Amino acid sequence: MKDLKERIQKIFPKVRELRRDFHAHPELGFEEVRTSEIIAMTLEGLGLEVKTKIAKTGVVGLLDTGKPGPTVALRADMDALPVKDAKKVPYASTVDGVCHACGHDGHTAMLLGTAMILSAMKNDFTGKVKFIFQPCEEQLPGGAKPMVEAGVLENPKVDNIFGIHLWTNYSIGKVGLKAGPLMAAADSFVIEIIGKGGHGSAPHQTVDAVVVASQVISAFQTIVSRSVNPLEPAVVSVGTLQAGYGFNIIADTAKITGTVRTFSEETRALIQKRMEEILKGITQAYNADYRFDYIKGYPAVINNEKVTEYVRQIAAEVVGEENVLNAEPVMGGEDFAYYLQQVPGTFVFLGAKNEEKGIAFPHHHPEFDFDEDAMAIGIELMVRYVLNNKNLKI
Ligand code: NI
Repeated sequence: MKDLKERIQKIFPKVRELRRDFHAHPELGFEEVRTSEIIAMTLEGLGLEVKTKIAKTGVVGLLDTGKPGPTVALRADMDALPVKDAKKVPYASTVDGVCHACGHDGHTAMLLGTAMILSAMKNDFTGKVKFIFQPCEEQLPGGAKPMVEAGVLENPKVDNIFGIHLWTNYSIGKVGLKAGPLMAAADSFVIEIIGKGGHGSAPHQTVDAVVVASQVISAFQTIVSRSVNPLEPAVVSVGTLQAGYGFNIIADTAKITGTVRTFSEETRALIQKRMEEILKGITQAYNADYRFDYIKGYPAVINNEKVTEYVRQIAAEVVGEENVLNAEPVMGGEDFAYYLQQVPGTFVFLGAKNEEKGIAFPHHHPEFDFDEDAMAIGIELMVRYVLNNKNLKI
């Protein structure tokens, strides 16, 4: 596989150039027009069958070896964030208030690099590879769901899928993976408590929305502590409470917003149900009323055991066993979850922090950057994932 590393080094300047170009010209979710044009052009140049404008700006390239074998999907997301780029680098964002502050520019460049290598190695493996470039990972409802609905996992039917996130929580050279739940379902809620306003000196004529909202928020604290199985991770957080007009006025309404994070559909459903029951019971007890809007975010990312084990072996060969980490589950969401609901696969974190180079900012930070050398590791992981895929028995 020394040969593979050499191949990657040969195309690497092109990959870095693509990444820096995407970085300098970031586009928000579902607006990745320029990015997707460059992707389509690059894939067509490699002789792949290319479909564009899937779920608005999505692109899928199909590489067919002409020999029977598995159909493998590799996925990258393309969108940037509404963040002002604060880095002093030659490839800094040229778009005011928009920045690739999560590394999706790197994901896109890495997947294009993988397509370059695999199309040149077409005779070294069997089956087909689908390169999925997805819009809008950062904002609900996300690009993965409409991509799946548009049939990107069909014709030909995808057997397994692999996705990578560059990760500045880990140093370069590390790979973090985990079978089972890796990232949480991230839901949000908006609640309105409807009471009856009045004079602060005459509470008996009112239904105080502030008091009712306080009771509701206190009772929510018992959902995780008393209703959820203690072995199941879950979060119910109230982020805002807004109510009232003045010190001597009893508020007629109160607005509560917050977020719910879970790792299983059962717990997710249980929490939503308990919230509704608490709202219903407490408002009834105080003669108030409520509106409850529970907004479902991405489901949890649940990695397939066998695929994760398969990638663990590949990663050990690429970075050494001691650098393959057991990833801690993350409470953040990721719409790769939708692909994993349809086909077995795994999503891994690829170390991209490098303190010596001053690259250590967290994701979504205005000064976020990643060590570009991580992309070479990412390409090698994805190429090997495809080359050995016929041995992956799920
Ligand atoms: Ni991201």
